[in-house]
Amino acid sequence: MTLNDTPRDIPIVRTIAELRQIVADWRREGLKIGFVPTMGALHQGHLSLVQTAAKHADKVVVSIFVNPTQFAPHEDFDAYPRTEASDAKALTGTPASLIYAPKPREMYADNHSTQITVEGISEGLCATTRPHFFGGVALVVAKLLLQCLPDVAVFGEKDYQQLLVIKRMVRDLNIPVDILSGPTQRDADGLATSSRNAYLTSDERKVAPLLHATLQDTAARLRAGEPVEGVLVSAIQKLKDAGFDPVDYLELRSAEDLTRLHSFQAPARLLVAARLGKTRLIDNIEV
Ligand code: PAJ
Repeated sequence: MTLNDTPRDIPIVRTIAELRQIVADWRREGLKIGFVPTMGALHQGHLSLVQTAAKHADKVVVSIFVNPTQFAPHEDFDAYPRTEASDAKALTGTPASLIYAPKPREMYADNHSTQITVEGISEGLCATTRPHFFGGVALVVAKLLLQCLPDVAVFGEKDYQQLLVIKRMVRDLNIPVDILSGPTQRDADGLATSSRNAYLTSDERKVAPLLHATLQDTAARLRAGEPVEGVLVSAIQKLKDAGFDPVDYLELRSAEDLTRLHSFQAPARLLVAARLGKTRLIDNIEV
């Protein structure tokens, strides 16, 4: 374990053995353990999940691991921001008790051979353009949960399909953890906070809030009873006109199992993914 200089700094461990030891000691003391998996480049969205975890647990572990198996070879694995020192600093202002930041080799043996496929719910939406993505997420989250063995783990609604994939996997594999969710944190202009927002140019940053504004406008029209298909087509056009290219999807889905809705019925979720320059942005809201 690496204890940093000042008493307020949060310990960082890099091995499964160290993580398990600390968590086992806490458990012997009768403490409840919360877990927030992240890929780092921490922002207000991540920190809000730490606060949520602390409401349900005595100790909160935050993992920081840029997971190679959820990136395709042409994607931004190498460029993904790695800011461990400032992440550790950001966490000192939260109830986090421990940072788990394993190296890729600790997570994946050279000949690791196991895959996890969560069928149905991990098809369509983000999987259409990122077919490798949910397999990589399911695999690393299953591993992280089994490494940490928390009582509760918290995920953001910002990645709504991911949240449902993880809930389904945990149920199907009988992993003994309660999956909780936290609402999407946004900048003042509505843009959902995201590690990838750092890729936006200043001109793109001005256009980006239109994604959330369009979701809100679309939701209002759907609630008012306008036909789903027409509303979605015009919203996609509006995003294209503003410079989003391509719009991967803008869809109305069941909030429970993500089946596509052709007419509005609650509980429903509007989900969008679109590219602005080289940055892929996703967002979703309840309708
Ligand atoms: P990452 O993108 O770092 O996100 C970590 C967690 O923070 C996820 O649960 C995500 O939904 C949540 N989050 C991101 N932005 C948020 C926002 N604006 N408001 C609220 N929560 C937000 O998602 C991943 O990492 C990875 O796929 C991971 C689950 C760690 C597996 O590698």
